[in-house]
Amino acid sequence: AGLHTAAVAKGKLYFGSATDNPELTDAPYLAQLSNTDDFGQITPGNAQKWDASEPSQNTFSYTKGDDIANLAATNGQKLRCHTLVWHSQLPNWVSSGSWTNATLLAAMKNHITNVVTHYKGKCYAWDVANEALNEDGTYRDNIFYQYIGEAYLPIAFATAAAADPDAKLYYNDYNIESAGSKSTGAQRIVKLVQQYGAKIDGVGLQAHFIVGSTPSQSAQTTNLAAFTALGVDVAYTELDIRMTLPSTAALLTQQSTDYQNTVAACVANAKCVGVTIWDYTDKYSWVPNTFSGQGDACPWDANLVKKPAYADILAALGGT
Ligand code: G3I
Repeated sequence: AGLHTAAVAKGKLYFGSATDNPELTDAPYLAQLSNTDDFGQITPGNAQKWDASEPSQNTFSYTKGDDIANLAATNGQKLRCHTLVWHSQLPNWVSSGSWTNATLLAAMKNHITNVVTHYKGKCYAWDVANEALNEDGTYRDNIFYQYIGEAYLPIAFATAAAADPDAKLYYNDYNIESAGSKSTGAQRIVKLVQQYGAKIDGVGLQAHFIVGSTPSQSAQTTNLAAFTALGVDVAYTELDIRMTLPSTAALLTQQSTDYQNTVAACVANAKCVGVTIWDYTDKYSWVPNTFSGQGDACPWDANLVKKPAYADILAALGGT
């Protein structure tokens, strides 16, 4: 069995991968992405972000997002939709606009309503809000927080719920995969949205890890339980585990262990619905573009050959 087949046999909804439009012209890449034995879910890595979907105010552009949504539908894969309200990849008209509380709130609601309505019925889940926290668990001072305050979070969730009542609505962030101030901050956001009376269904743990300093399986298990105790699902949404290059056999072995521990933590929690890797091959990973000298973070190498991590992920999923 492959990764998705094994995940489903363990009671999970999916094992999946992120992808991006330019890569879809690479036929061997596309063939493996479309192999539903390994991938039952895909996430657009860039196509649905604000700069792509509403490049100028109230002018919406869905071509790139539609290409990936249609691919998922053709393949019979679930779509995790990503992302509605985030400080990064905002078009200039948002990030440098002159706003008041009322005008930014209206622009945010208009964005969410249009995008969620366009994809209504196609998204298993939406990452409604992304990376709203600083490392110490306080709110990131993004444009939404500046003009709307913390209320932008519950309002975003309520607006998304009204546009597609069937999509699972997630808060998504990184460095919330083990206990600490930022994970506590994410739990505070779940409670804030709930107290407002808005729908929140899950927390996405991005899991952009580093070989050898990935949290242990037990640290991750304990942390997932802190979220699911609040009555929400969890998912690993952007898993990758980078190393300082060059890769060595020892680093690949440690990477494999780190992947196995993370996937096993999801398997151990009945409310962890699935695991998504942030693209499956080193050929298209975001890591080298952001962290100079680092890379090789994915389970398939740049030649689309499976690395040791593949077998250990499969083992964590109970497959052979
Ligand atoms: O579209 C332009 C293109 O026109 C231009 O020629 C090219 C030159 O650099 O840049 C292209 O934009 C790039 C874009 O990806 C599309 O490829 C941006 O420079 C680049 O910064 C952007 O990176 C994306 C990153 O988010 C931006 O923050 C990565 O692909 C994407 O994988 C990454 O994904 C994020 C998640 O959304 C949230 N969590 C963290 C994760 C990793 O950073």
